[in-house]
Amino acid sequence: MTIANGRGRLIYGCMGLGGPWDGTSYGAAEIDQAAAVIDAARGIGIELFDHADIYRSGKSEAVFGEVLARSQGLRAKIRLQTKCGIRLGERGLDTHYDLSKEAILERVNGSLERLQTDYVDVLLLHRPDPLMDPHEVADAVGHLVAEGKVRQLGVSNMSGAQIAFLQDELEMPVVANQLEMSLLRRDWLESTVLVNHAEGLGYSFPHGTLEHCMAKGIELQAYGSLAQGRYTGARPGKLSPAESATASMLQQLAGEKDTTPEAVLLGWLMKHPARISPVVGTTNPVRIQACADAASVAATMSRAEWYGLWVAARGTNIP
Ligand SMILES: NC(=O)c1ccc[n+]([C@@H]2O[C@H](COP(=O)([O-])OP(=O)(O)OC[C@H]3O[C@@H](n4cnc5c(N)ncnc54)[C@H](OP(=O)(O)O)[C@@H]3O)[C@@H](O)[C@H]2O)c1
Repeated sequence: MTIANGRGRLIYGCMGLGGPWDGTSYGAAEIDQAAAVIDAARGIGIELFDHADIYRSGKSEAVFGEVLARSQGLRAKIRLQTKCGIRLGERGLDTHYDLSKEAILERVNGSLERLQTDYVDVLLLHRPDPLMDPHEVADAVGHLVAEGKVRQLGVSNMSGAQIAFLQDELEMPVVANQLEMSLLRRDWLESTVLVNHAEGLGYSFPHGTLEHCMAKGIELQAYGSLAQGRYTGARPGKLSPAESATASMLQQLAGEKDTTPEAVLLGWLMKHPARISPVVGTTNPVRIQACADAASVAATMSRAEWYGLWVAARGTNIP
C-alpha cells in the first residue's frame, strides 16, 4: 500500500507559521520565516509538510502558499498534508467539529486556495465528529479525489475502532493516523503494558489502536514529538524530578552518540516497531537541524537505552 510519508521519517508541522492565532494579517516577516523553515526542514530530508485549515486562522497555509508561489518548482519537490473537521469561533461556539460533506468540500477548497496549489497529497480528518455520517465523508472524499484535489486520506486523534468504522464506507484506504505521542505524552505506550494492572486505570488510551494501525499499514504520525521542548531547553516552569532525569539522560546519550538530545528524543519514538513518523513543530531552524539524526539514532538505540529513557520519563519502574 502507498504510505503517506514513507513511514518512520520526519514530517514538518506548520502550526507555528503565519504569526498570531488572531485574525491579524501576515506580512513579509511571516513569509520569510516560512521560507527559512521550509529550507531548514528540506535540508534534513523532510518532504511532507503538515497543515490544518485552522492553524493561525488559515495564515499557516497562506504564508506557505506565498512561499510556494515565489519558489518555482518547489511544489513538485515536497508533499503537502492538511486537515479539516475543526471549526473555531463559528455558529456562536468556541469550538465544534464538522465532517459533513459540505464542510469537507468547503474547507479543502479553502486550503487549496491559501496554499496556492491544485492538490494536497494527504487530507486528514482532524478529529472525530460525533455527528459524522461515514457515507457523507466517503462521498465528499470521493468527490475530492475524483477532482484530483486530494490524493490520500488519513485521520487524526482517532481510535482503531473509529478508523475501522469509517474505513468500511470508504473506497480508499486510510493511510495515516496522527496522534500526540512522545516521551512526555506516553498513554499510547503505557496502555499497551498496563493491561490487567491497577496503574493502567490511569490511562484512557483506546486499546488496539496501535495494533490496528500496524496491522493495516496505517502510518502513525506523532504530534508534540519534541514535547514542546520540555526536555530540550524550553523552560515554561520547573521540571519535575522525572523530567529532569529524562533531560539529563537525553543529554548523556546525545554525548555518547555524538548527536543532539532532540535526535535521541525523536529516535526513541522511531525505534518503536509501529515505525512512528514524528511531526516536528519548532519554527527555529537550529532546532530543526538538531533533529537530523533521529532515524539513525533509532536504528542504533539499544533495548537498554530505550527502556532506560522510558523508565526515566515515567519516574517509576515498569511493573
Ligand atoms: N493533529 C492534531 O490534533 C495536532 C495537534 C497539535 C499539533 N499538530 C501538528 O504537530 C506539529 C507539532 O506539534 P507541537 O508544535 O505541539 O509539538 P512540538 O514539535 O513538540 O513542539 C514545538 C513547539 O514547542 C516550542 N518549543 C519551545 N522550546 C523548544 C525547544 N527547545 N525545542 C523544541 N520546541 C520548542 C516551539 O517553539 P519554537 O517554534 O519557538 O521553537 C513550538 O511552539 C504542529 O505543527 C502541527 O502540525 C497536530
